[in-house]
Amino acid sequence: LPTPPIPADLPSIQLTDNARQVLIRRYVRRADDGSPAETVDEMFWRVAYHVAKVEESWNVDINARAREFYTLLTARRFFPNSPTFTGAGTPLGQLAACFVLPITDDMGRESTGIFQTLRDAALIQQTGGGNGFSFSRLRPQGSLVKSSAGQATGPVGFLRVYDHAFGEVAQGGSRRGANMAVLRVDHPDIEEFISCKTNENQITNFNISVGITDAFMRAVEADADWDLRFPDVHHPAYRGFSGTLEEAEAAGIPIKTYRTVRARELFDLIVRQSHHNGEPGMLFLDAANRYNPVPHLYPLEATNPCGEQWLGPYENCCLGSVNLAELFGPDHSVDWEAVRHSVEIATRFLDDVIDANQYVPAVPQLSEAAHRARRIGLGIMGLADLMYHVGIRYGSPQGQEFAAQVMEFVRYQAMRTSVDLARERGPFPAIRGSLYDPANLRWSPPAPLEAYTSDWGRPAVDWEGLEADLRQYGIRNAAQTTIAPTGTIATVAGCEGYGCEPVFALAYIRHVNDNGRDLQLTYTSPHFQRALEEAGLDPETQQAVYEQTMRDGSCQAVEALPESIRQVFVVSADISAEEHVRMQAAMQAFVDNSLSKTINFPAEAGPEDVATAYLLAWKLGCKGLTVYVTGSREKVVLETHATL
Ligand code: CDP
Repeated sequence: LPTPPIPADLPSIQLTDNARQVLIRRYVRRADDGSPAETVDEMFWRVAYHVAKVEESWNVDINARAREFYTLLTARRFFPNSPTFTGAGTPLGQLAACFVLPITDDMGRESTGIFQTLRDAALIQQTGGGNGFSFSRLRPQGSLVKSSAGQATGPVGFLRVYDHAFGEVAQGGSRRGANMAVLRVDHPDIEEFISCKTNENQITNFNISVGITDAFMRAVEADADWDLRFPDVHHPAYRGFSGTLEEAEAAGIPIKTYRTVRARELFDLIVRQSHHNGEPGMLFLDAANRYNPVPHLYPLEATNPCGEQWLGPYENCCLGSVNLAELFGPDHSVDWEAVRHSVEIATRFLDDVIDANQYVPAVPQLSEAAHRARRIGLGIMGLADLMYHVGIRYGSPQGQEFAAQVMEFVRYQAMRTSVDLARERGPFPAIRGSLYDPANLRWSPPAPLEAYTSDWGRPAVDWEGLEADLRQYGIRNAAQTTIAPTGTIATVAGCEGYGCEPVFALAYIRHVNDNGRDLQLTYTSPHFQRALEEAGLDPETQQAVYEQTMRDGSCQAVEALPESIRQVFVVSADISAEEHVRMQAAMQAFVDNSLSKTINFPAEAGPEDVATAYLLAWKLGCKGLTVYVTGSREKVVLETHATL
């Protein structure tokens, strides 16, 4: 698709060498011979222009809008997810990172049957999109299949089929779309599912998560029995039925209890497995459904591959992240006005992406679902950078409060803009009957888990005023905020802290393949360097500090450092699991979808530590939890921290 030439007066983006190389390798369009077909700035202009272009239908000056988007992008204050960079203005035109597809209990008779959905998923994979699936509606292994008088394969068998198929498909595309498989904790095949990745070389194209209910967690607390159940597949009303357990109950289909186990034994199995290699994760179905903005359309059953995005059938969400590392104010402050402005323009950008996205034409349900709820997923990256700058320890009570206040501000400004967009262009089409139905508003403003004690100069937010406007205008986007992992975009943006995560290491050696030679590059956090200079450490001491920090990754054991620096410059491994969970919960209170966060444990942590974290996360209202015990996995399934 033609892109007009980039206006000569637009600024160029400033990038580190590593960021520039990653960007050129992953995002820049190529000619047939593989050489770059656009410059880095032209790449940004292509994205800004093609997203802005959809505003033609709203009588907006699209050149002015494109310049506004371009300026925000090249200031590195906001980046959309990778597929928007690779797809905008190209024949593929698929801009979203994640999708959820339904699987019903038939081989493909319905459009949602097992092999229909596999085909749809493969087409999405080819565009670089990742897929999430709930396998919970599939009848248990060994149960009767009437038509063939055979025995059912069961969810785990079909999961293996999917995994194998995706392993082959993914080899064609440039980016390997990841996958998520979810199975409910009351499904009769749940034990097999929990253990299906004990060997980490199995089912490598999927992350797996158990769909946990509140009833299950209460049974764990009470040490009660737990029934594994499924609708009676022999019952005449089951023929052609494709709903959830609850929907089967409501339809009068008897529910058969296959087995009864001790809830704690099942919980311990999950805990042991995730202690062993990080999988399965837990997804809290009831917490997610309490905030399902469109319960009149569907119950939420699954997330995207990294767990931060709950979606209904065929829905996608285009993610985008405001880069807090570029929104510093003077003297260790936050430039709140710049945050507000970035969120506003980013929200408009993502709303446009819904219309600019080509989806996959062969799966028309994708476009329909996207336009019905108009979900967007705006989040943050570089939170940890901002906390270094302001001087707040990630994980501490103050850090939890700061993160909550940042997210409250982002959520508020995103909703404000979405309400303004509803006034200008109309609310999302499925708003009637939703939580945001102006005639019957069931949404209420979010509140922090703990009362605030500071304000860091943050302007007040007016939730009451927003509620009044919601009643009058509705809202354009059924979901507004999500915190993505930002595995690639944070690298390109040059943040130290991915998404809402703490920094991984303050200093390290990076191996780069330089035409077959192993080149070792040292890296030291620029924020850390600045702090050492500000503290007036002499060059020799600074050098000694860097060397020890390089060895440890952390500065906590460096005695030459003032305590005030050690306090603030924590890395992931310096933060306790409980602090990680509390950070997640503090932010979750202000994220209407979910967030990508890993709860890191030291190598010596035991399964009981993992169990404690799961219980705490559930109690604090998290929508899921991913744990990782240091050294427990040889390979990391998803690429994080993209380098060359
Ligand atoms: O930084 P970038 O925009 O490339 O992506 P991310 O924030 O790390 O990941 C966002 C989402 O993209 C993930 O949650 C997945 O749903 C999807 N993804 C994928 O399917 N395959 C990958 N290799 C990476 C991400």
